Amino acid sequence: MTWLDGFGRLRPVFLGILLSFSFQGVCCELVVSSAGPTWVNAIAGSNVTLAVSFSGAPDPAVTWFKGNLPVVTWTIGSSAPPDIANREVLRIEQNGSLTFVNVPLSSSSNYTVEMTKSGLGKAVIKFTLRVFEKIQDVTLSMQPDFVREGTDRFTLQYSILQGVVENQMWLFTGREIKTSSHYLVEQRSVVILKPNRNDTGRYTVSLTNPFNHVQAHMDVTVLYGPDEPALEARPSQSFYVLGESLSLSCRAEGFPQPTAEWEFGGQTLPDSREGVLNLTNVQTSQGGLYTCTLVNEQTNERRQKSMILNIYEKPPGNPICSVQSANGNVDLQYRCRWSGGTPQAQLSFPALSNTSSGAGNFNLTLAASDNLNGKTVTCMAVHPVEQNQCNVTALGPMEFLPTVGTTVDSEGKIVVAIHCVSAASPEAVVSWSKGSEAVASGITYQISSDTTQLKIRNYNVSNFFQQNYTCTCRNPLGTQRRQIQLQGPSISDSSLFPNQEGTIVTLTWEVPPTSVVTGFDIQMKGPDLLSRNRTQTRGTSDKYRTIQWKPGSARSTDVFVLDPNLTYRFRVIPRARMTEGEPSEVHRIGPGEGLSGPAIAGIAAGIPCSLLFLLLLAGLIYLCVYCNKNKSRQTRYPVSRAVEKAITTQSDPAPHNLLTGGLKSPPDYNRLQQTPSERSGALPTFVPPPPVRVATTV
Ligand SMILES: *[C@@H]1O[C@H](CO)[C@@H](O)[C@H](O)[C@H]1NC(C)=O
Ligand SMILES: *[C@@H]1O[C@H](CO)[C@@H](O)[C@H](O)[C@H]1NC(C)=O
Ligand SMILES: *[C@@H]1O[C@H](CO)[C@@H](O)[C@H](O)[C@H]1NC(C)=O
Ligand SMILES: *[C@@H]1O[C@H](CO)[C@@H](O)[C@H](O)[C@H]1NC(C)=O
Ligand SMILES: *[C@@H]1O[C@H](CO)[C@@H](O)[C@H](O)[C@H]1NC(C)=O
Ligand SMILES: *[C@@H]1O[C@H](CO)[C@@H](O)[C@H](O)[C@H]1NC(C)=O
Ligand SMILES: *[C@@H]1O[C@H](CO)[C@@H](O)[C@H](O)[C@H]1NC(C)=O
Ligand SMILES: *[C@@H]1O[C@H](CO)[C@@H](O)[C@H](O)[C@H]1NC(C)=O
Ligand SMILES: *[C@@H]1O[C@H](CO)[C@@H](O)[C@H](O)[C@H]1NC(C)=O
Ligand SMILES: *[C@@H]1O[C@H](CO)[C@@H](O)[C@H](O)[C@H]1NC(C)=O
Ligand SMILES: *[C@@H]1O[C@H](CO)[C@@H](O)[C@H](O)[C@H]1NC(C)=O
Ligand SMILES: *[C@@H]1O[C@H](CO)[C@@H](O)[C@H](O)[C@H]1NC(C)=O
Repeated sequence: MTWLDGFGRLRPVFLGILLSFSFQGVCCELVVSSAGPTWVNAIAGSNVTLAVSFSGAPDPAVTWFKGNLPVVTWTIGSSAPPDIANREVLRIEQNGSLTFVNVPLSSSSNYTVEMTKSGLGKAVIKFTLRVFEKIQDVTLSMQPDFVREGTDRFTLQYSILQGVVENQMWLFTGREIKTSSHYLVEQRSVVILKPNRNDTGRYTVSLTNPFNHVQAHMDVTVLYGPDEPALEARPSQSFYVLGESLSLSCRAEGFPQPTAEWEFGGQTLPDSREGVLNLTNVQTSQGGLYTCTLVNEQTNERRQKSMILNIYEKPPGNPICSVQSANGNVDLQYRCRWSGGTPQAQLSFPALSNTSSGAGNFNLTLAASDNLNGKTVTCMAVHPVEQNQCNVTALGPMEFLPTVGTTVDSEGKIVVAIHCVSAASPEAVVSWSKGSEAVASGITYQISSDTTQLKIRNYNVSNFFQQNYTCTCRNPLGTQRRQIQLQGPSISDSSLFPNQEGTIVTLTWEVPPTSVVTGFDIQMKGPDLLSRNRTQTRGTSDKYRTIQWKPGSARSTDVFVLDPNLTYRFRVIPRARMTEGEPSEVHRIGPGEGLSGPAIAGIAAGIPCSLLFLLLLAGLIYLCVYCNKNKSRQTRYPVSRAVEKAITTQSDPAPHNLLTGGLKSPPDYNRLQQTPSERSGALPTFVPPPPVRVATTV
């Protein structure tokens, strides 16, 4: 079209030049010119003429060539018909122009007209005829059917049912595609090299010829992904505590959107295709490796990503520290235990060793040394959820006092149990010896499983006193030793407390700590006791008689009913089964004896002989004092309070000699008596007065 217009504009100039030529050789040369464009576009089926005109010579011979092939030959003006190759299509005009009737596509060609007149030369003009059809029914197709990112290429091509294309243009989202490193524009197609996701979009082909213009579109989707998945837990934490809730999400770019699949512990988790896995109230069993697989269901492309989920639980309770002896009571083993939990707590004694530690249960064995004695050592228990600690202090055995308890077994043997308990950490092991030889468990001697108690069994009380016993408490940090000298049945202190009316008395007594006692006889001298309902059976005795029997554990008793107008004497006799010990001091209750009421009345009455009386009185007082002195010099066995006080402050390794201080002569332990010592009193029971025994310990 454009060029037809251009030609039209040039035509006057062209004609001018042609005319000037014709005037120059008007009678001597044949001049041929085109009467229209030499470049002709025609639509198929139309009538088109390649028009020429000539001058300078009449009736020249005309020959039209299609390319090099002559198709029409005629001499203008001759009566002979023209020689035409294809009469259906071609016709020659009187003035030499060539007309195409219903021009077919096959007529497109270069045409040359050659005119000759003998003697007047030859003239030639070239024409180009292009025959077009309208473009119709354009379709686009793609090769291959699906485009995947990363493949080598894909091709878009058009096909038309009909029409001749003079020009094709490809566009991608409105921009023209030109051959480049990415595109290859070919005849009827365009090739996209190494397609990627950015090549997704609308492709347009625009086809033109001089007679019409057609566009066709195609939407192309490049399949891609999954890309590298992003796997994360929310909330984001390095670990989760039992019972917390979290969600795992796994996503990646891709088209179509990839689907997710979760795997844990070798099993695929159900209902998790969305890529979000909600975990509520997590258990430690849910900790571990989670793998997410993302699949592009169209391309079957898949990607995996894994993460480790830490779910922790603190061990129950608190760490427990202890110290034990190890390697035969030579080394110290510090122990720290806080087991359970996930993961196990890391335990260490940083003050003792900063290189070794243990999980859940940690033992550290060290040689015992003085600087460990009394040192408080902390076990650091480190768990991701909680840090905790416990303390332990190793202590060598402390000074202690042995205790002695006496019972009678079913065979009637006296059983003396000696306890040696020394505060120590680790617990002290007690070894026992009798004199210089070690005591082994057997029939006579029994050592408790924790070694702190030695039981001695014997019928014969005197056997208990032949040897000193020694207990040695030992742990890796030290030793404490005590000697125990058993003592016969004895009373160290006794008192008597009457009630207000003087009808009931409470007798209390104490026993030295190492005394072997299985029971007490409560003895009385004086008138008989009144019976409860006052039916009096009065009688007097000047001999002590046993009125109650008390077990070895008893330290007090009540005696009733007394006549406040009469005088009674009481004493307590300690017993080791058949063997009696020294009686306690005698406690008297009742009106005075030495200075009777009538005597005092006489003093008041006889004033004249008061001087004499005073003398007498002085003499009496002297006598009394003398008597008392004698009495106190006669040392009783055992010594009372002084002993008790001495024992409580005792710290030297031989406490027994304090207990022997007051012993005048060993009592006859073998004097047999028929009264069984171990009988609880058969006297009527009554509600005793408030205990007054505390007064004796002051
Ligand atoms: C072309 O020429 C033929 C013969 O002269 C005539 O019958 C026909 O109608 C013409 N066609 C057109 C489109 O003018
Ligand atoms: C030549 O002849 C044809 C048909 O006779 C006519 O249409 C055309 O105009 C002529 N051309 C010239 C240049 O005279
Ligand atoms: C017509 O001639 C031109 C040059 O004049 C040439 O380029 C073209 O190929 C020719 N066309 C045909 C169909 O022979
Ligand atoms: C796609 O286009 C975006 C934006 O222009 C670019 O950042 C990205 O690198 C391109 N992707 C590819 C695969 O070329
Ligand atoms: C997971 O929890 C979120 C919010 O906590 C909820 O929106 C989502 O639907 C849950 N997903 C599943 C699979 O239960
Ligand atoms: C811990 O180890 C370092 C180096 O081994 C040492 O110098 C330091 O005394 C140790 N601390 C304790 C408390 O043992
Ligand atoms: C520590 O000692 C205790 C008692 O002997 C034992 O039960 C425990 O297994 C020991 N712990 C380690 C870690 O050896
Ligand atoms: C252990 O001892 C340290 C100081 O020695 C003290 O701060 C800490 O509270 C103690 N821990 C326990 C559990 O008693
Ligand atoms: C008790 O033992 C002593 C000393 O071994 C002995 O002299 C005495 O005869 C024994 N008494 C009895 C009743 O066996
Ligand atoms: C028991 O020890 C005391 C004091 O050390 C001593 O006097 C006594 O002789 C010892 N008794 C025996 C039987 O060794
Ligand atoms: C009172 O004495 C009588 C005879 O001595 C006796 O039978 C009775 O049981 C006594 N009553 C009480 C309450 O002791
Ligand atoms: C004791 O003697 C007084 C007077 O001497 C008398 O009143 C009282 O009843 C007597 N008590 C008893 C229990 O006999």
